[in-house]
Amino acid sequence: MSLSERIEQLEAEINKAQARTAEEVERFRVAMLGRNGAVTELFETFKQVAAEEKRALGQRMNQLKQRAQSRWEELKAGVSAGAAEAGPRVDTSTPALLRPTGSLHPITIIRQRIVDVFARIGFTVSQGPEVEDDHHNFSALNFPPDHPARDMQDTFFVEGPGGLALRTHTSSVQVRVMEGSKPPIRTISPGRVYRNEAISARAHCMFHQVEALYVDEGVSFAELKGTLDYFAKSMFGTEVSIRLRPSYFPFTEPSAEVDMSCTICGGAGCNVCKHSGWVEIMGCGMVDPAVLANCGIDPERYSGFALGMGVERIAQLVYRVPDLRLYWENDTRFLDQFTAGSVRS
Ligand code: DAH
Repeated sequence: MSLSERIEQLEAEINKAQARTAEEVERFRVAMLGRNGAVTELFETFKQVAAEEKRALGQRMNQLKQRAQSRWEELKAGVSAGAAEAGPRVDTSTPALLRPTGSLHPITIIRQRIVDVFARIGFTVSQGPEVEDDHHNFSALNFPPDHPARDMQDTFFVEGPGGLALRTHTSSVQVRVMEGSKPPIRTISPGRVYRNEAISARAHCMFHQVEALYVDEGVSFAELKGTLDYFAKSMFGTEVSIRLRPSYFPFTEPSAEVDMSCTICGGAGCNVCKHSGWVEIMGCGMVDPAVLANCGIDPERYSGFALGMGVERIAQLVYRVPDLRLYWENDTRFLDQFTAGSVRS
């Protein structure tokens, strides 16, 4: 076969070459342009032909090589276009990507748990506004006009007429409920409250409270104590106990602070309980008859108890997170650590 015929033959071969896979493309390249490929070998033969023939066939030889290269590019492009059409290959054996799903805020988790614990003994949920008037936040709750809690230090007042302020506690909702319904009343009010405090690890200008109110005929202090014990054991475990310390709130009489045996050291003494074995968890008392009367409920016939707790305080004890500021920074590295299931019941 003459060189010229061989060139023709290879041209025909190159033009009809097909490839369905990357391997077949590579096989074509090796067969034509590889070190021992047909085109490469033909160049070796070409080196040995007479100078005259070289002149005559040199251009065709170069065209042959170019054609082999361009066909190789075409085949490559065809295979990758086909691969794109077929869509990405799915390797079902690779581990699934863990997508960030978000989670409930720890304060939400604890608030829901508190609501659940009270719902089980028949308490409904009531809500009130965060911007409150003096009557609901203070006056009806028996705060005398010169009471220090009304001081600019504690309260964020809202500019403008009407004497409005950001509520300093959820006790304001008690007043709204008692004004708006008849006993028996058994309700809790979770919500956000505001106080003009410098922000530190131990205090914040915004926090959350849950208030509970029970008003009916013959409600006694013993029922209050039973409810407190039930709450503490439901929230923290049956091994905890509570104690009451006499205290003062304008809207309850008698009033008490509730301490719980320290969940961290079990009562032996540690930093959290300041080596006393007890931690304070809320305030409580029997609704002052004057407050009942202020809200249109006959104190001769009805009595009631009330209690109020800080949700952050309960969360601190459940999660052992001492710095209050963490609950407001919303750093996802902090928030990701909490799941509803991790709360003890
Ligand atoms: N309102 C009180 C506070 O913010 C908490 C409180 C104490 C609520 C005693 C009550 C209660 O209902 O009886 O500090």
